[in-house]
Amino acid sequence: MARTALVTGGSRGIGAAISKALKAEGHNVAATYAGNDEAAAKFTEETGIKTYKWNVASYDESKAGIAKVEEELGPIEIVVANAGITRDAPFHKMTPEQWHDVIDTNLTGVFNTIHPIWPGMRERGFGRIVVISSINGQKGQFAQVNYAATKAGDLGIVKSLAQEGAAKGITANAVCPGYIATEMVMAVPEKVREAIIGMIPAGRLGEPEEIARCVTFLASDESGFINGSTISANGGQFFV
Ligand SMILES: NC(=O)c1ccc[n+]([C@@H]2O[C@H](COP(=O)([O-])OP(=O)(O)OC[C@H]3O[C@@H](n4cnc5c(N)ncnc54)[C@H](OP(=O)(O)O)[C@@H]3O)[C@@H](O)[C@H]2O)c1
Repeated sequence: MARTALVTGGSRGIGAAISKALKAEGHNVAATYAGNDEAAAKFTEETGIKTYKWNVASYDESKAGIAKVEEELGPIEIVVANAGITRDAPFHKMTPEQWHDVIDTNLTGVFNTIHPIWPGMRERGFGRIVVISSINGQKGQFAQVNYAATKAGDLGIVKSLAQEGAAKGITANAVCPGYIATEMVMAVPEKVREAIIGMIPAGRLGEPEEIARCVTFLASDESGFINGSTISANGGQFFV
């Protein structure tokens, strides 16, 4: 069934692949972004998917942006909380600003994205929530105390929402990508990238489309009994 879907950070990287995959499933997709107008305009031109600009770290901006999407595309029935950032530093060098930037975007941003949509999902008796966490939320990572805390937090969010939403036809699940060939990962020095690949039994980085496939599966009407779960897609690098 065609539904309205919102993908935060849906204009680039993994989010762009998710937006395109949901569109290919027949859904009416809204993709958000933070500030890269050029990338968003190019994405809309190439895919026909509408983009909306707001900062997920702001509750008021998120609420207003979501209201605009719902006015233009209809009630949001699928939400993918994907927007995320890194501000890496070893803990002894991590600044409070680096901590707060990541918490505000990656964790509070998930609350800000889901909370305004939640009452409508409850009223209508249907909802699919997918949060993009990370392998580093499952296992921790050097120089990512802030990032790993948010990504572990995502798993707590979906497990709790699953319990609150199940009786109302709402599911909440997480996807934990391993290292994926997005701009972020391709920008690291080749030597570092090779070292990362050396830790992945599959012997390669993942493709954004491989994460998008997990999301379309969890977002489908047929996945109603899968709730509070985590799909790891990491090439065999880490098992929970
Ligand atoms: N890449 C990986 O290997 C990997 C692995 C595990 C998990 N993840 C997770 O997967 C998600 C996507 O990662 P990615 O590598 O695809 O990222 P990316 O290529 O850097 O794209 C990030 C997207 O999020 C948007 N965004 C960032 N901060 C935002 C904010 N405050 N408000 C609204 N939108 C914001 C960006 O908008 P602009 O275009 O305007 O900047 C962009 O559309 C993240 O949650 C990340 O933690 C990634």
